[in-house]
Amino acid sequence: MCGIVGYTGKNDAYPIVVKGLHRLEYRGYDSAGVALMRDGIQLFKCKGKVSDLEDHVGKSDTSGSAGIGHTRWATHGPPNDANAHPHMSMSGELVLIHNGIIENYDSIKKELQQRGYEFQSDTDTEVLVNLIEEIKKQEEMSLSTAVRRALKEVIGAYAIVVMSKNEPGTLVAARKSSPLVVGLGGDGDFYVASDATPIVEYTKNVVYLEDGEIAELHPDHEMKLFNIKEQKVTPFIQELELHLEQLEKGGYDHFMLKEIYEQPRSVRDSMRGRLSINKGIVQLGGIADYEQKLINAQRIIIVACGTSWHAGLVGEYLIEDLARIPVEVEYASEFRYRNPIITEKDVVIAISQSGETADTLAALELAKSKGATILGVCNVVGSSIARTTHGGSYTHAGPEIGVASTKAFTAQVTVLTLMALMLGNRKGTIDRSRFQRLLLGLDAIPDKIERALQTNELVEKISAKFKDARNFLYLGRGYCFPVALEGALKLKEISYIHAEGYPAAEMKHGPIALIDEEMPVVVIATKGPSYEKVVSNIQEVKARKGVIIAIVTEGDTQVKEMADYTIEIPEIEEMFTPLVASIPLQLLSYHIAVMRECNVDQPRNLAKSVTVE
Ligand code: G6P
Repeated sequence: MCGIVGYTGKNDAYPIVVKGLHRLEYRGYDSAGVALMRDGIQLFKCKGKVSDLEDHVGKSDTSGSAGIGHTRWATHGPPNDANAHPHMSMSGELVLIHNGIIENYDSIKKELQQRGYEFQSDTDTEVLVNLIEEIKKQEEMSLSTAVRRALKEVIGAYAIVVMSKNEPGTLVAARKSSPLVVGLGGDGDFYVASDATPIVEYTKNVVYLEDGEIAELHPDHEMKLFNIKEQKVTPFIQELELHLEQLEKGGYDHFMLKEIYEQPRSVRDSMRGRLSINKGIVQLGGIADYEQKLINAQRIIIVACGTSWHAGLVGEYLIEDLARIPVEVEYASEFRYRNPIITEKDVVIAISQSGETADTLAALELAKSKGATILGVCNVVGSSIARTTHGGSYTHAGPEIGVASTKAFTAQVTVLTLMALMLGNRKGTIDRSRFQRLLLGLDAIPDKIERALQTNELVEKISAKFKDARNFLYLGRGYCFPVALEGALKLKEISYIHAEGYPAAEMKHGPIALIDEEMPVVVIATKGPSYEKVVSNIQEVKARKGVIIAIVTEGDTQVKEMADYTIEIPEIEEMFTPLVASIPLQLLSYHIAVMRECNVDQPRNLAKSVTVE
């Protein structure tokens, strides 16, 4: 994780870099720093958020037309001023920002220490900047040559940007496994960042660096790009589809709330051009060439982390139910290290909002090396996972800024629903009339989400009753089990209340022991095949004096009589429940977190894009 940003051109770098850091704060917010090139290197850095950095800088002179900045998610060493980036080399000649992990930093550090280097921080990054300095000292060479040589000695993941006071105005940027994008400004200036959000207001022309590539950026000169073999590469310039308004709060108090409210639109966007009621078809262009491969797959393996893993579970239920293809859902971090059996007959689908999650990417690469077909369901266009896969479907939810995932989840589930419907239809495992009925049902989901959002006021009132709870239990069965897991994750992520999601029937194998009058139990008890069973589970909770908050189908009477609080959502086909029942649970976690005065968009210790293992 960590966010990095750089600028070189005719303007002052500081405002551009700091604004960029605010945009990248979702990647980590343990410390922040900037280095500016002006008669030497000016360095400002401190523990805390970008706003703390701005206070720290205060009225200092921040002029300088080249600069780099960093917002940190701590890996090596605690969040403090010394460990904050940028890091300077011992002589003060070089300054560097880094996102990633240098795995062999310890051995390099020892060698450098033997040569007299002293270190101010606990970071792997300070080792790298001094390694570049040491290489540069040995013979006359440019900054970019020294960076290239140093990176050959490095094992690990990195996106870096380096400046040297002996080459003012030049930025050298490189990546391996961590994302980096270069923006080409109209005035011959350059921007570089972990993603395109700091760049979009200045230029739409960008170059996504490939693994092993190193860019040399100097204003008014062409961008020079080299691969790991030191051969010159022609940059592939792409046009950004991102719009500035997508990165602003648009009148909402928090990005999370804005994103919750965007879901009628984002789910519609996920379906756009893919679902045609009139023609009675579902098509996903990005996986069209792999349709037969999916239908004939021995297994589909879904790999993901966090919320995306929960979407994967819904995907498993959908694909097995509609297309009768066996599906396994794996935590990417477990899958990649447990020597899994993968063959050419398997199709591995990675689900990832950011498209950058290190474990998910590594799991895919493992599957690819074993000959499996690899597909992606990603939100961020041009992300590493999207570029590694054979094919895939973008979720088109638009940028998600709140660290707790909301609209990306429903967009992932929408794409997986389309995939399951498409496969079921082609395979003939869904009959025509059911298929047509499901298409109509799915097409109506954005309106049902709109209605589910109208529960907001009621959910806010219920939130007030439970804001001081210490534990929560979330229960659901069938398609509602992943909803329970996701509801619990949302609550713990942003309000720091301990919460667990469980299959409702499993409750009696353990969690029931926790239930007393202090324990709120959120039950997704919508109408569906397991409704009566869930009713029994609610009775089991009530018998032990647990407090029930139930998500029910409009018009429900049975659960309403038993539950302490009920939240109604519109009637829907069971398999679409995750798309609608998640909405009040997102709102519940949001309001509880706001009432507890938690930082909703930037919960402690978390980051949105997890580019470390
Ligand atoms: C982090 C985020 C989660 C996200 C997970 C997977 O933990 O805080 O919201 O679900 O990473 O991220 P991905 O980008 O791969 O979906």
